[in-house]
Amino acid sequence: MYEPGLLQIVEACRGKNLFFSPDVTKGIQEAEIIFVSVNTPTKTYGVGAGKAADLKYIELCARQIAEVANGDKIIVEKSTLPVRTAESLKRVLHANSRGHHFEILSNPEFLAEGTAIRDLENPDRVLIGGDSTPTGCEAIAKLKSVYASWVPEDKIITTNLWSSELSKLVANAFLAQRVSSINSISALCEVTGADVDEVARAIGMDSRIGPKFLKASVGFGGSCFQKDILNLVYLCEHFNLPEVATYWEQVVQINNWQKRRFVHRIIKTLFNTVAGKRIAVFGFAFKKDTNDVRESPAIDICKSLIEEHAEVIVHDPRVKAEVIINKISEALGTNTIKIENRLTVTSNPYQASIDAHALVIATEWDEYSHLDYVKIYQKMQKPAFVFDGRSIVPNKQLVSLGFEVYKLGQPIGNRI
Ligand SMILES: NC(=O)c1ccc[n+]([C@@H]2O[C@H](COP(=O)([O-])OP(=O)(O)OC[C@H]3O[C@@H](n4cnc5c(N)ncnc54)[C@H](O)[C@@H]3O)[C@@H](O)[C@H]2O)c1
Repeated sequence: MYEPGLLQIVEACRGKNLFFSPDVTKGIQEAEIIFVSVNTPTKTYGVGAGKAADLKYIELCARQIAEVANGDKIIVEKSTLPVRTAESLKRVLHANSRGHHFEILSNPEFLAEGTAIRDLENPDRVLIGGDSTPTGCEAIAKLKSVYASWVPEDKIITTNLWSSELSKLVANAFLAQRVSSINSISALCEVTGADVDEVARAIGMDSRIGPKFLKASVGFGGSCFQKDILNLVYLCEHFNLPEVATYWEQVVQINNWQKRRFVHRIIKTLFNTVAGKRIAVFGFAFKKDTNDVRESPAIDICKSLIEEHAEVIVHDPRVKAEVIINKISEALGTNTIKIENRLTVTSNPYQASIDAHALVIATEWDEYSHLDYVKIYQKMQKPAFVFDGRSIVPNKQLVSLGFEVYKLGQPIGNRI
């Protein structure tokens, strides 16, 4: 797992106030507060498949805590959960309590991968949801005191349980919505002659809108945005609010459309065929400074290119070759041997570009802005194309070197 700053923290604290152990029972018995941080993926089976959260790991934790607890416990929902999950947890725990008292709090995590340590050290806010009963208030105060050792009090907000659970889903939905909003405008810019970066800058200076999350790209990925929006959509459907469900589902649909649109642009520009052409894909992680590939747009890009019979060479500074090959095979629904002659992974971006017809930037790793593009251009097939899905390459410099550059949200006529 790669996360800037994490290794240093683990090295500094391990054995002092940070311990790792597979002995879950001992951990539960010794703890006063238990953070449940297990995964809550989208259900792939049964009722709600494809949208609802799979809560089996959460329930297993609750049952295990109830089974082995030897005293009262505060149980903190750290995982992102649909509204009213705390209610189900309470029922499971109280039905198996054996005389102990379990207080449930919701304390959703707002950190982002790639900036996790910075976000934890200096959060915009910490949210704690709990019951307003005397034991609920006591538990909230205890958890608050944990954070208060490094987070200013005015940044620690408390709400009821449901508000806290819902706030996390809504925060992710709003963030993803901004990405889909600017991506939808990127398509309009391409055909009208506007430049999406200029539009983003102009609207972002409006303090009501703000500058963050306005970068047009090949789409959002990661383990959370899509999962959490689909969860919200499922909740709305469940509570018979189909208009609200459709509204939020559109954020995911625009994201999928943007990925397809990008691949279509590549194929169309490469004279309507990529069959037999070498295409170097730079970046496989869902964003820079992480090696997480869950829901990464690069998966869809590589899959589509391979389906079009291109020869794909992938480079990523942090993702292991085996992870890349497995993810693409899984997406293609085939085994790794079958795609061997269509897919290569290399640790050297210059190697990746030798004889390539096109470079595709799928992740915004800083190093892709500083590569020796003179060297790369010399080794590529001509015309040499660059498809920048993250708006990070030095556009003008590349054009002056002879590259034909397609950047999302830029007027097409000017580039190609
Ligand atoms: N990744 C993020 O950036 C992020 C940010 C905020 C919130 N979240 C939320 O946090 C939760 C976890 O996300 P993640 O990305 O860390 O997932 P993850 O899949 O990387 O990690 C979850 C871990 O829980 C372990 N686990 C599952 N069941 C268990 C059990 N019964 N006992 C002990 N361990 C168990 C799994 O083995 C896994 O290591 C999710 O609900 C997610 O939505 C994630």
